[in-house]
Parts: sequence; structure tokens; C-alpha cells
Amino acid sequence: MYSRRDGILWIEQVRLDRLLAAGLPTPLYLYSLAELRRCYAAWAEAVSGLDATVGYAIKANPNPHLLRELARLGAGAIVASEGELRQALGCGFAGAHTVLHGNGKRPGDIEAALRAGALLSVDSPFDLAHIEEAAGRLGCQARLLLRINPDIDPQVHPYVATGLQDSKFGMTEAVLQGLRPALRALRHSRVCGLHSHIGSLLMEPGPFVAAGRIVLQWAARLRDDGHPIDTVDLGGGLGIDYSRRGEPAPTPSDLIGPLRAELQAAGLRLVVEPGRSLVGSCGALLGRVLGVKHGGSKSFLVTDASMAQLIRPALYGAYHHIELVAPGGEVRRFDVVGPLCESADFLGLARQLPTPAEGDGLLVFDVGAYGACMASRYNLQLGPAEYIVDGARLICSRRAETWEDFARPFVDQEVAL
Ligand code: LLP
Repeated sequence: MYSRRDGILWIEQVRLDRLLAAGLPTPLYLYSLAELRRCYAAWAEAVSGLDATVGYAIKANPNPHLLRELARLGAGAIVASEGELRQALGCGFAGAHTVLHGNGKRPGDIEAALRAGALLSVDSPFDLAHIEEAAGRLGCQARLLLRINPDIDPQVHPYVATGLQDSKFGMTEAVLQGLRPALRALRHSRVCGLHSHIGSLLMEPGPFVAAGRIVLQWAARLRDDGHPIDTVDLGGGLGIDYSRRGEPAPTPSDLIGPLRAELQAAGLRLVVEPGRSLVGSCGALLGRVLGVKHGGSKSFLVTDASMAQLIRPALYGAYHHIELVAPGGEVRRFDVVGPLCESADFLGLARQLPTPAEGDGLLVFDVGAYGACMASRYNLQLGPAEYIVDGARLICSRRAETWEDFARPFVDQEVAL
């Protein structure tokens, strides 16, 4: 997807200095369709020969161009809210190949999923009661996946670990055991399978495979209880090589391969839920350099891109690779920072980079997942534009937010109580 020709950075067949020279306002997000297709192909290969759905976890990036492409490629949709479900259906995903998750589903989330014929994960006994009640009220049968919390350490940042017993997600095996009698008494819901998602940014297949085996054991137990179990959803979470130094992230096949024979022997349909490993590497954040300053022991490279467009470095201490678009001058060590009034507003610390001129372009890599969707308007930064790169074509997918867009929802209305 990336290349450097005559010192200039390209994405596919688009020269980034030309893009800047065209006067597009920065910061902006760029998404490569070729990279998206490459990432999807790795997942499709991992599940080939299995009865499987590669469900895209829409929370990673709900851009409609990316969604339509993934739907066209045959992906299912994994949604965390009514909003994500609406976005998925509007972009061509089939309701029947959609799964709704959430540890606190609201009535609107549950009803929208039931109306769409989606699978619903059950996160707790109260979640089960809410779904059963809603299905009864709407006169439909809920299709359930029970979310197990397998108490497995995914060895990732604590904010993205979800399958340890003290995590807020899913049901421990003890809770699930206690729920077995209630499951037999359901009138408006059918237990179709099990789900687990132990966390994000997995850099080893071992924890994923171990959780998968626990899910498979529970599938057998619940079949013994008479439930029509046909699906196991093993979640997402596969990491990517943010360092871009060839550090080996597992491949989708590394996760699925060890479970393949067991899945086939059990005759179970597999759902996987990648987000980051489908869209992370296909996106980048392009900014312009505002200036360079020196102070104390540090040099700062100040850009118009900030934590408002990419909060991951500030929130998780996450590393994102950064390069200048053009060659630049003397190589120095810079903290790459944004213009916001907060010291957490950095994109990269202690980076060896050529000294840029003012106005030069700077690209932050691997922003496709949890970039735009976690953007904020902090310091009143308006929402940036999003562009699709498709070969030599550049397509505006989302125009930049305007002051009018921002101002429109503000009203002055008294509320009668
Ligand atoms: N399935 C479920 C139930 C999830 O909760 C998630 C992500 C995924 C699938 C997709 O995980 P992925 O393949 O993208 O790792 N904001 C954080 C990531 C939070 C992930 C939340 N759940 C970040 O920027 O790293």
C-alpha cells in the first residue's frame, strides 16, 4: 500500500505531496481499499473449508465505503449498538449475519437486533431477562449466543482485556452453570451458540485458542441440555504490527488453524469478529507541520493532527509509526505533538525524523481502526474529512465538518417537566 518514490510517500498510486498541493484541508484520514481487500483475504483464507462467517467488528471503523466493500466481499457484521446495526444494514450487511454485543444493551439496541433477525449475545442473567422479555413483547424468537468469560489473560493493555474474571464482560463458568435451568425454561429465545472475546491486540495465538476450547466444551454441554447449538463465535482481537519493523503478529490462520479439526468434528458454524486486523493497516492520518521548536532537552514537531483525531497514543500509550511525506533535512529526535492545550496531545514520542519545513506533510500509520471513530472535538476541532484511495483514484467519503454542522444542534428550548 505504501511506497516511497523519489523521496515522496505514496499510498497505492496517489502521491501524498500532490494531495497536499491540491489544498485539501488537514488533518484528514486516508483509507486504502487494496489494503482492506488484502486483510480480508487473510481472514477468508484462515476460515476456508469451514462453515464460517468473518464478522467485521464495525466499532473499529464505521466508514460506509469500507463497510460496503466488506459486505461485498462477504463479511458479516458485529455491532455494539443500534447505531452500528443501522449503519451495517444501510451498507448492505444481512441482518441474519449480524451479531449484537454489549454488557449493557439498551431497549432500543435489543429491539433493533430482534427486528433485524440478528444474533444477540447474552452478557449476564439480566441481559437474558431483558432479551426474553423484548422477544415476547415483539412476538419473535430471539437467537442467542451466550458470552462466556473464560478467565484467560490475553496479555494485553488492561483497557482492552475483556476475558479475565474481573472484567465487566460475559459470564464466568460458575454463572453459566447456575443459568442452565433458566435456559431450559426460555419461551421466546433459542440458545444457538456461545461467544467469547478475550481482548484486543493479541500478539500470541495461545490465549485465543485456549478460550476457543472452553467455548467448544460449553457447546457440547449445552447440546446435552437439549439446546440447538450450531454456532461458536470466538471473537476478534488479533493484533497488527504497529511497529512496522516486521514484529511477528500472528496471522488469522495461526488463530484458527489449531481449532479447525475440533470445529469440524463438532459440526459447528464458526463466527470470528476481527476489527483492527481488517481495517487497522488500511488507514492513515495525514497532517501538516505547523513548526518545529526546541526547549529544555526536547525538540517538538508540531502538527495540525492531534489527539482529537487519534487518541490511542494518549489513552493507551499506543505506538503509531510516523513518517514525513517529503524527504526533509537533518534527522533529529522529536516528540510529534498536536496543537491542543493539553500535554497528553502527542502522536509519537522520541521519534527520529528528518527536520521538516513548515507546511510539509506528515503521515501517521495504522489509524484505520479506532482512529476516526474515537475522534473528539476537544478544543473545538471539527471532524476531519475521510478519503478512500483506490488505485490512482481519491474519493471523498466524508466531507469535513463545517461550523454550521457543529452549530446546528444547539437550541434554546425550555423543557416542560
Ligand atoms: N468483538 C468484540 C465483542 C469486541 O468487543 C471487539 C473490540 C472486537 C470484536 C474487535 O476487536 P479487534 O479485532 O478490533 O481487536 N479502542 C481500542 C480497542 C477496543 C476494542 C473493543 N472491542 C484500541 O484503540 O485499541
